[in-house]
Amino acid sequence: MTEVVHTRAELAAARGGLTGTVAVVMTMGALHDGHEALVRAARERADHVLVTIFVNPLQFGPNEDFDRYPRTLEADLAVCRRAGADLVFAPSVTDMYPHGEPTVRVLPGQVGEDLEGLSRPGFFHGVLTVVLKLIQLTRPDLAFFGEKDYQQLTLVRRMVRDLDVPVEIVGVPTVRESDGLALSSRNRYLSPSQRQAALSLSAALRAGVVAAGAGHDAGAVLAAAHRAFGAGEPGAELDYLVLTDPDLEPGPVAGPARLLVAAWVGGVRLIDNTGLRLAPRA
Ligand code: PAF
Repeated sequence: MTEVVHTRAELAAARGGLTGTVAVVMTMGALHDGHEALVRAARERADHVLVTIFVNPLQFGPNEDFDRYPRTLEADLAVCRRAGADLVFAPSVTDMYPHGEPTVRVLPGQVGEDLEGLSRPGFFHGVLTVVLKLIQLTRPDLAFFGEKDYQQLTLVRRMVRDLDVPVEIVGVPTVRESDGLALSSRNRYLSPSQRQAALSLSAALRAGVVAAGAGHDAGAVLAAAHRAFGAGEPGAELDYLVLTDPDLEPGPVAGPARLLVAAWVGGVRLIDNTGLRLAPRA
């Protein structure tokens, strides 16, 4: 059975009754198969799985989609039940921020100011602040995050390490449609032709992986990824396509690396990434 609570007091009472290991999956709702995979992965590691559903105003810029972000609680609860969540915490904004917008926030550092942080100033301050609050409120042993939001996952790991937060962070591989499109709550904004254009992102990543697998160096891998992005259906406007090391520090020359892409398709911002291994420069 999946219990649903909306206030901190209800959460505290329900959480108090859970014995054994507890895993949390934090979401903003509009749940899809990617979220379901997070809940199922959590299910395998913990005695109890708690899902949070909260559209966090702190992580939206003034011109972003906070107001129109899909809010689909009933459908989300059906996903939680199907995936085997024990407890869902779906608070209101005033329950999460009873004293108004917090003036004290978590600073993500340089890694949080690059990539998504460049286009969305303050985004990771808002994300890390709510993640820390949700950890305090839910007191999990484990917290599961999707690799699709790789910069978020990296920063949450850093926050937990740097601030000695007693929780294990677990990354879960991205779930994709059969044609490669990474699942995202924002995909539902795409028209059929925009959805075709959105395939440029995963095509770029695939080309990068193929080039890396063929033993090409970083420059050639990036060039292959750019070519594949450009060869897609028109309509995707590239924001960045970069190779970093697995911790998002700049410029790997060889060995494990991360290829990350972001683009605008119509008014919709999409991101994707993949791991790969770079051959040493010849
Ligand atoms: O990935 C998300 O959905 C959000 O950034 C998170 C982690 C739930 C914080 O609001």
